Amino acid sequence: MRIGVIGYGYWGPNIVRNFHSQENSEVVLVADRNPKCEGRLKKVYPSIGFTTDENEVLTSPNIDVVAVVTPVWTHFELAKKALENGKHVFVEKPFTYSVAQGEELIELADRKSLKIMVDHTFLFTGAVKKIKELVDRKELGDLYYYDALRVNLGLFQHDVNVIWDLAPHDLSIMDYVIAAKPEAVVATGERHLNGVEDVAFITVYFPKHIIAHVNVNWLSPVKVRTTLIGGEKKMLVWNDLEVDEKLRIYDKGVSMSTNPSNLHQLLVSYRSGDMWAPQVENIEALRAETAYFLKCIEENTRPINDGEAGLRVVRILEAADKSIRTRGEAINL
Ligand SMILES: NC(=O)c1ccc[n+]([C@@H]2O[C@H](COP(=O)([O-])OP(=O)(O)OC[C@H]3O[C@@H](n4cnc5c(N)ncnc54)[C@H](O)[C@@H]3O)[C@@H](O)[C@H]2O)c1
Repeated sequence: MRIGVIGYGYWGPNIVRNFHSQENSEVVLVADRNPKCEGRLKKVYPSIGFTTDENEVLTSPNIDVVAVVTPVWTHFELAKKALENGKHVFVEKPFTYSVAQGEELIELADRKSLKIMVDHTFLFTGAVKKIKELVDRKELGDLYYYDALRVNLGLFQHDVNVIWDLAPHDLSIMDYVIAAKPEAVVATGERHLNGVEDVAFITVYFPKHIIAHVNVNWLSPVKVRTTLIGGEKKMLVWNDLEVDEKLRIYDKGVSMSTNPSNLHQLLVSYRSGDMWAPQVENIEALRAETAYFLKCIEENTRPINDGEAGLRVVRILEAADKSIRTRGEAINL
């Protein structure tokens, strides 16, 4: 599989490295409008071609897959042109800048029997794979809530707010783990420095009383990457900054019943059992993800992080932006 990569800024080199090091693929051409990127690329990969004209990648007959690693507002045009030229597309998160754009790309890819993979990198981490396994086998019982905190100081983006920058990670993980269709979104946030929201809180309502919350913030003095998932049977804490025990499962919970001799009296019992930290696979997520994309193309299967998965995240992002403008009106999905 011959890969062309568009965008060699901060994230592009990771995509180049991972596609280039797979056994069954090689990166043949990298495009970036910034000519300074050529030196950085050639120093590591002298054999990979470089161009400042992305159209060379998009139209080259020697390229099977185009990876779009540019800012979100460029994803649609680049991915559309790649699909029109018969290329499979690996596109960065967030998939597109609007639901309408995402729907158009999915329709185009389906019509041309091409694959789209959206880089929801976290789905391929050992921690998220383990969480998904635990939730699917009902280790936590029925879910009550999903609560994610992703805060640090910067990096300020000028073209998107903190929601479009940081929340796609948590929303894609939430979408994968909860696997139910969300019903409504409420979001609040504020702008302090450069005209886009730098602090934001998103609440997502699901059926069966499941509620999710994502707190994203570029103005935090400390970096925190912690997610709590509460279930009827057990509760889980995922601290992605921990080296050894990223996941901890707590056998804690609450049950309530009424006192048989006094039906107005509630009997509350708290359960506080063991805590354990399951083994989490230590893999480079992007390496597993790029290998999986090549396999999906080869075997003609649909990736778990396909265009539809990307679109589900964009739908929440778009609703969150709308809700923020009214200081928290609930937007039905
Ligand atoms: N999956 C992840 O964990 C992860 C991490 C970081 C960034 N990203 C995503 O990667 C994308 C790029 O982010 P970044 O931080 O690398 O941005 P960046 O600004 O550092 O790099 C983007 C590069 O794209 C180039 N570019 C822009 N438009 C172009 C065009 N039309 N043709 C050719 N080159 C063009 C720019 O010159 C720049 O070098 C974003 O969508 C971002 O959300 C994903």
